[in-house]
Amino acid sequence: MTNELNRRTFLTYVGTGVTALTVASTGLGVLVPGAEAKGSEAAAQLFGFNKKVSGLKFTPIQPSTKDDLVLPEGYQYDVVAAFGDVINEKGDTFGFNNDFTMYFPINGSSRGLLWVNHEYVSDLWVTGQPDHNGKYSKSQIEKMLYNQGGSVIEVYRDANGVWKLDPTSRHSRRITGLTPIELTGAARGSKAIGNVNVVQGTFANCSGGKTLWNNVLSAEENYEDTAGPSGLNENHYGWIVEVDPFDASFAPRKHTALGRFHHENAAMGLTNDNRIVVYMGDDKRDACVYKFISKNKYVPSLGRQNSKLLEEGTLYAANLSKGTWVALTIDAVREAAKDKKDLLDKFQTQADVLVYASDAAILLGATPTDRPEDVEISPFDKTVFIAHTNNSNHGNIHGHITRFIEDGDDLGALTFDFEIFACGGRQSGFSAPDNLTFDSEGNLWTVTDISSSSVNKGVFKTFQNNGVFVIPTTGTNIGEAFQFASAPIEAELTGPSFTEDETTLFIAVQHPGEESKDYNKPTSMWPHRKGDKIPRPAVVAIRGF
Ligand code: FEO
Ligand code: CA
Ligand code: CA
Ligand code: CA
Repeated sequence: MTNELNRRTFLTYVGTGVTALTVASTGLGVLVPGAEAKGSEAAAQLFGFNKKVSGLKFTPIQPSTKDDLVLPEGYQYDVVAAFGDVINEKGDTFGFNNDFTMYFPINGSSRGLLWVNHEYVSDLWVTGQPDHNGKYSKSQIEKMLYNQGGSVIEVYRDANGVWKLDPTSRHSRRITGLTPIELTGAARGSKAIGNVNVVQGTFANCSGGKTLWNNVLSAEENYEDTAGPSGLNENHYGWIVEVDPFDASFAPRKHTALGRFHHENAAMGLTNDNRIVVYMGDDKRDACVYKFISKNKYVPSLGRQNSKLLEEGTLYAANLSKGTWVALTIDAVREAAKDKKDLLDKFQTQADVLVYASDAAILLGATPTDRPEDVEISPFDKTVFIAHTNNSNHGNIHGHITRFIEDGDDLGALTFDFEIFACGGRQSGFSAPDNLTFDSEGNLWTVTDISSSSVNKGVFKTFQNNGVFVIPTTGTNIGEAFQFASAPIEAELTGPSFTEDETTLFIAVQHPGEESKDYNKPTSMWPHRKGDKIPRPAVVAIRGF
């Protein structure tokens, strides 16, 4: 790409209201008389606009089929915690298939708590196969439930700068499929969830987010796979769960006001009038993009008490044809369902709308999209990036990243425009974008999720193993993907998160060797621990930034 922004990009910026800042800092100031030098300086300071892509400070790697986490020259990784590792003096162990990570500093970027989601288990490495009737034994179900949920682990850098787990930590603990979890919001105690206020456990914890008051939001995704075999009520799962990593006395809670679907993530921001907004993906083919807006305003001085904001508000789903956010209310649903007895029976209260949120969204005209997974709000211009992973139902094999531009740059707006920011495929070098995170230079760090059964085969061969790609959202290389990492065999890299000073990137290496059929012949042996006989999902800390 040349130094000039193309017309499409230029028009995008004109629409965002950050025109002055962006255009001035990308050298198009002459075209826009209103561009202000002051804004340009502010942007350069905040986001390092003077830096070109070399400012990313790495030489992109080539795709790889190696059974390792391959990084650019000068970077290295420490395995911080792997499946089965003891995390505290009580003897709790690190769960399987780690996903979302979030670092909470205790002593800056050298010691802190790391929250890690655990998404699902494997019959080969965790539970053992069900019996010939497809049933799991009681102890198999216990293993299935224990190894999902989340881990709080205390991590630190030793004298050599190596990241390690501190198994003597008083903070380290597990939240599992066996932990009692409170419900909040309109569906708490409602008929649709069996009139209960507390449910058993959380599982299928995929990605998540961080609240403005430093708690974790963990997203329950493919809950059926565990609720079914465990004989648990499916309506108790598929929610967003809030946990305080530092304080076990804060009861973990599922916020039903944020709706029930196959939650991928929860990206929190503020509306222009200081209400809480949470953007969420529903990881299914032909599923909608959501946002929740709290009824009341955020008051920073109230700290964790702001959690109450997640108990009352409005859940919206996006209609991309009209550029509108559709409110999912019982009145609207019943009006739309007025000639259909089965739907009128199903939707009687707002609790029913929350429990069956994805059905309500489609009923109200929200747009089915191509597996909306992670969502991130750009810290630069408040546009909203959505990873649409793929959708083989209608030929979107490599997926794309969609960018919403909320009207007036207000995350509380009920109207928006959008563009396709980047597309998977041979031309871009990536396929199946999944988790996203921003660095402070406005680069979008994107991990890919080509399924284990497809990776390195057919039309996916060109990409080789899954990877991490860095895509600038500003500057001369906007929209171009540069490969930063390549995953071990059949693994997916998930949950990237930086320490605040961006000297370390935590990443969860999920399901290495997932296609193994024989316990004694694993297709991957990552992380290649001496004397170990199986591959293990593990969280790593990447250094060298
Ligand atoms: Fe758990 Fe949508 O990936
Ligand atoms: Ca995902
Ligand atoms: Ca993310
Ligand atoms: Ca995934």
